Amino acid sequence: MATECVRSAMKMEIDKLENRGDADNGIQEFKDAAADFMRRQFGVKLDPATEINHCIGSKPALAMLPAAFINPGDITLMTVPGYPVAGTHTKYYGGQVFNMPLYEENGFLPDLDAVPRDVCKKAKLMVINYPNSPTGALADEAFYKKVIDFAKTNNVVVVQDATHILLTYGRKPLSFLQVDGAVDVGVEVHSLSKGFDMIGWRIGFVAGHERIVRAFADIKDNSDSGQFIAIQKAAIVALADTSIPVAIRAKYERRLQKLVAALRELGFKTEIPGGSYFLYVPSPKGVAGGTTFETAEDASQFLIRERSICTVPWDEAGPYLRFSVTYQAPNETDEDELMDALRSRLADDKFI
Ligand SMILES: Cc1ncc(COP(=O)(O)O)c(C=O)c1O
Repeated sequence: MATECVRSAMKMEIDKLENRGDADNGIQEFKDAAADFMRRQFGVKLDPATEINHCIGSKPALAMLPAAFINPGDITLMTVPGYPVAGTHTKYYGGQVFNMPLYEENGFLPDLDAVPRDVCKKAKLMVINYPNSPTGALADEAFYKKVIDFAKTNNVVVVQDATHILLTYGRKPLSFLQVDGAVDVGVEVHSLSKGFDMIGWRIGFVAGHERIVRAFADIKDNSDSGQFIAIQKAAIVALADTSIPVAIRAKYERRLQKLVAALRELGFKTEIPGGSYFLYVPSPKGVAGGTTFETAEDASQFLIRERSICTVPWDEAGPYLRFSVTYQAPNETDEDELMDALRSRLADDKFI
């Protein structure tokens, strides 16, 4: 559940007459709060009037942005594995998706030098996502600089999906917009779903290049009528409270440590990721003396059908299983019991 102060704000705001009615492209107070958050958290200065627009969560923002840039034959550069929404919408507009694989040996960063020249010519959009879902990898400044150079050379608009940004471990979260030149080539999409426990509330924002934000706002204005103002006002309370993401990050990091410890004991090769609440683990090839797995899909089916353990399989860039620590457990004892259940369900399997 969202933090108590956010829920209390919502309870008050829902009763106020002035919060009725369509919000269209959002209330100025929310844009101001988002600008304050970007300045406080990342040192990024944005004009709240022109460089920020709210969205009803990051998913619809990723769905709408291709409308501004994609004509038939244009290409969107996406990563696999990845969050596919912008690619799906690219295809609705007659565009194509070029998949850039994320390999462990490259730190799960796409190899921009491997994008063929004819693809670069037709590319209009590049969608990246760090901290990455599902690999949990982080991008560093050097990678973002490469992205900016690539975008300038090839006239490509960059969309960096920062949905998991506040779930960064071991170092300070890095915004794409902190890097020199980023605001010239793109936008970053933020969400309150993960870092503020506001999943289901549907609130986020698009920030960065003024004309890209304006293009997005124009499409959004013709697609939805804005998030309920009471929710925007509750989100303002969340954005102003620096303690909320700190507590949420600590919870997920602790849970990831417990999961890593349990999986290592069971023979999996894994370590704490740079970010997100996912753990992306090389998929086993089989169980000694038992089933063989051709794909991560096979392994995932074995785990759910035979052992009642839920994972998401990814086979696009090598076989991997994605575990998640988004389970419901009110306290650490329950978390430990869940990890013990994982250990005991897999105790008799020697994974290859
Ligand atoms: C990488 C990524 N982007 C975007 C989203 C959408 O988040 P929301 O629409 O709740 O902001 C998700 C949610 O699962 C995600 O994992």
